[in-house]
Amino acid sequence: MNTDPTPPPQFSRRPIRELPDALISQIAAGEVVERPASVVRELVDNALDAGAGQITVRLLAGGVRLISVEDDGSGILPEELPIALKRHATSKIGSLADLESVGTMGFRGEALAAINAIADCALLSRVSGQAHAYLLEGQTGEITPVARSTGTTVEVKELFFSTPARRKFLKTDATELAHCVEAVRRHALARPDVGFAIWHEGKLVAQWRRCGEAGSLPALEQRLADVLGSDFVERSVWVDFSSRAAPGRPDYAPVIKVWGRAGIPDAARARADQQFCYVNGRFVRDKVITHAARSAFEDVLHGQRQPVYALYIELDPARVDVNVHPTKIEVRFRNSREVHQAVRHAVESALAAPRAGQTAPDGAAKLTHPLAWPVRGGDADRAVAPGADGSERAPAPFSYAQAAMRFDTPVGHRVSDLGALWSAPADTPIQPTALPAGDWPLGRALAQLKGIYILAENSQGLVIVDMHAAHERIVYERLKTQWSEARDGSCLPSQPLLIPAAFAATPVEVATAESHTATLLRLGLDITPFSGKTLVVRAVPTTLAQGDAVELARSVLTELGQHEASSVVQRAHNELLGTMACHGAVRANRHLTLEEMNALLRQMEATERSDQCNHGRPTWRPVSLRELDALFMRGR
Ligand SMILES: Nc1ncnc2c1ncn2[C@@H]1O[C@H](COP(=O)(O)OP(=O)(O)OP(=O)(O)O)[C@@H](O)[C@H]1O
Ligand SMILES: [Mg+2]
Repeated sequence: MNTDPTPPPQFSRRPIRELPDALISQIAAGEVVERPASVVRELVDNALDAGAGQITVRLLAGGVRLISVEDDGSGILPEELPIALKRHATSKIGSLADLESVGTMGFRGEALAAINAIADCALLSRVSGQAHAYLLEGQTGEITPVARSTGTTVEVKELFFSTPARRKFLKTDATELAHCVEAVRRHALARPDVGFAIWHEGKLVAQWRRCGEAGSLPALEQRLADVLGSDFVERSVWVDFSSRAAPGRPDYAPVIKVWGRAGIPDAARARADQQFCYVNGRFVRDKVITHAARSAFEDVLHGQRQPVYALYIELDPARVDVNVHPTKIEVRFRNSREVHQAVRHAVESALAAPRAGQTAPDGAAKLTHPLAWPVRGGDADRAVAPGADGSERAPAPFSYAQAAMRFDTPVGHRVSDLGALWSAPADTPIQPTALPAGDWPLGRALAQLKGIYILAENSQGLVIVDMHAAHERIVYERLKTQWSEARDGSCLPSQPLLIPAAFAATPVEVATAESHTATLLRLGLDITPFSGKTLVVRAVPTTLAQGDAVELARSVLTELGQHEASSVVQRAHNELLGTMACHGAVRANRHLTLEEMNALLRQMEATERSDQCNHGRPTWRPVSLRELDALFMRGR
């Protein structure tokens, strides 16, 4: 055995030396500038900070040969031009306190210096009231008077010319161009009050005209349609929410505003490529926000589908640290819980309003008023509009749920419980549907198809409803409400069976029933062992009284058998209630009378999230007259 120690690798010690300034700048630039799109983002940031109303981006070879960003903003004084290119030189903050409440996109005074270190830069700027514009050549430092209107143009030529290794990492011109366009798109979605244009090799690639005042919802809607397509707007709902101060929680922000649009579950995609989040006007990728938005869709989205949304979050700048990532794409919240709650609540309540009746003749969902948002129950549940006291919101909020409730009355029979209606004797005086079909969002029932679908007629055409899926959601929502009302361990309202139902049970089912008695009682189920092989159901939840008690008991026991600890049951209660709802819901092949069908339609209109069943599938679809006409080639 060789016992000689391994000789140390050849190592020559070098003295520690300070790096030359140019190299420091080039290394620092690597943090900020990864590709042409990073330059575009920084220059557009600067233009927006300068108060520009119109920003024009011109590119050659995907931005590698030239990036020029022209704005009509405030301009830079000639004597400040050379300083603008220096590292750590900024007009945007002057102290740590400024940094903590920064309201501009920039604050480090790094971007222009970084870009100048790795490309051939020129600044051309004119401040209003000055006779000339001045041009500064970044490489030579030479300043010459030139002609230009008020504003600034920054020209960046031959990106990475001095760092060829970096240049090798760039993709094709087309790919780099696509990234540049994406960078401008993100800005455009944040600022409908600013016009944007992008040119590549002399051709106009994209253009978004100025839509209106900053903060105006119609302007935002227009911009979203221009940038993401009208489909995005048609298949999304307004989110418009302000959190209230949490009394006794000084660690909570007084107000967090969340607005924007959230796609309806039907608009979800296979990839998460249409999720735009902004914090105080800055595009960010943030796990807290993404998670909050995702959980708002939890109850209505099918499987792995990715929701689409554009969400704008505004909060006290002091409660969010923007100085955590070199490209500022990440932020850190002082209290991520308050942000999570606000975003989740905002999106959830926007999605909860039933959309029946929002269907325009062309099948596109449209809001009657851009400021309409859902109203639930009491005042405490109301999402408030921007403006701390909600006073900016003039028109009365409109809710389809409320409208539908109102429609109940003229029929002379307030339909509040479909189950009760079913069990009503045949001669119960229920007036035939007296209102014209057009007055109900989901229309007037016409017939039942194959025991599965309800066909109804509204002012736009035909409505087809999957009756099991729809009723399942109604029952589920009711169970959830009852569960949350039954706090402190009290039970879901329960109803004893006239004749207790005994059934042959497996040993596991008997054991589960014995060990989960308390949980079963909370769920409104009285299931007791009769013998080692028989269980007896003596009571079921009132809401599910019409269903098959034995089937209900079996599936709840199966599910409970999978959750040992009661804390798990507590957490999984939504799934449990979902299982129960499935059993309580009207089954296929059940014959419904027209009155029962109408009652179901009215309940759908009044139930939150009723457009999707518990598994995220749609519960109803409209077929407009126009679509029917097309089917028969009428009018051709
Ligand atoms: N388009 C512009 N219009 C007017 N002033 C500008 C423009 N671009 C840059 N400036 C001025 O040049 C300064 C330096 O810009 P630079 O982008 O390097 O830093 P910053 O924006 O202050 O911070 P950051 O590094 O975070 O972007 C700015 O603070 C601003 O005063
Ligand atoms: Mg900047």
